[in-house]
Amino acid sequence: MTALNLINVTLEYPDGEGTLKALDAVDLAVPAGQFVSLVGPSGSGKSSLLAVAATLVKPSSGLVMIDGVDATALGEKALAELRRDKVGIIFQQPNLLASLTSIEQLVITDHLRGKPLKAATARAAELLDLVGLADCGNKRPHQLSGGQRQRVNIARALMAQPKVLLVDEPTAALDHERSASIVQLLREVTDEFKVATIMVTHDTEFVPLTDAVATMRDGVLAAPVPAGAGVGAA
Ligand SMILES: Nc1ncnc2c1ncn2[C@@H]1O[C@H](COP(=O)(O)OP(=O)(O)O)[C@@H](O)[C@H]1O
Ligand SMILES: [Mg+2]
Repeated sequence: MTALNLINVTLEYPDGEGTLKALDAVDLAVPAGQFVSLVGPSGSGKSSLLAVAATLVKPSSGLVMIDGVDATALGEKALAELRRDKVGIIFQQPNLLASLTSIEQLVITDHLRGKPLKAATARAAELLDLVGLADCGNKRPHQLSGGQRQRVNIARALMAQPKVLLVDEPTAALDHERSASIVQLLREVTDEFKVATIMVTHDTEFVPLTDAVATMRDGVLAAPVPAGAGVGAA
């Protein structure tokens, strides 16, 4: 099952007199359980691709298929539900709520989905354990390191049991050792939960932990190649 499928996706922004193609006829299929690195120069369209795949931005043309559903054909309410239930989003800055404990950060997202509190609390505890934070459930963001905050962020994105995980430079604010363990964690959750994961990164040394690497240039996406095939080593 192709969890995420972008078909001939173009995204244009107004640019002075003309338009700028942030995405130019992008095709990308990511099956469940596949971990794809997305690399390319600054301004090449990587974040735009994630925003479109996350259904946060509607493309100018093309299809965005999530778990078999064309997001571009949905109305606002159905689209919000699809995003909430199927898409996990992890950005560079964890954006945790300062006043909440780790466990509360997770529970509140599920509670907003209408899940019973008890089940949400049990799942939150399981996920914190999975990301290596079993002892940090009652800590607030200021009591956590940058790496721990990013782990809470990852656990929170997994609460909905998403089919697609979109990750934008998750290690940009972390030191080398913490970065490696965050990418390793993303590898593990991709395998464990069979999500389709796309990670934007400029740390090419982490590319070999992923299955495939896709390169973006001026809005054009080259077809992904196996991550071991040398791009990561270049
Ligand atoms: N909201 C926006 N309005 C206008 N132009 C944008 C917007 N977002 C991104 N762009 C432009 O689209 C191009 C791709 O940007 P982006 O996807 O952020 O690239 P990357 O993440 O690879 O650095 C850039 O030229 C950027 O300036
Ligand atoms: Mg970006």
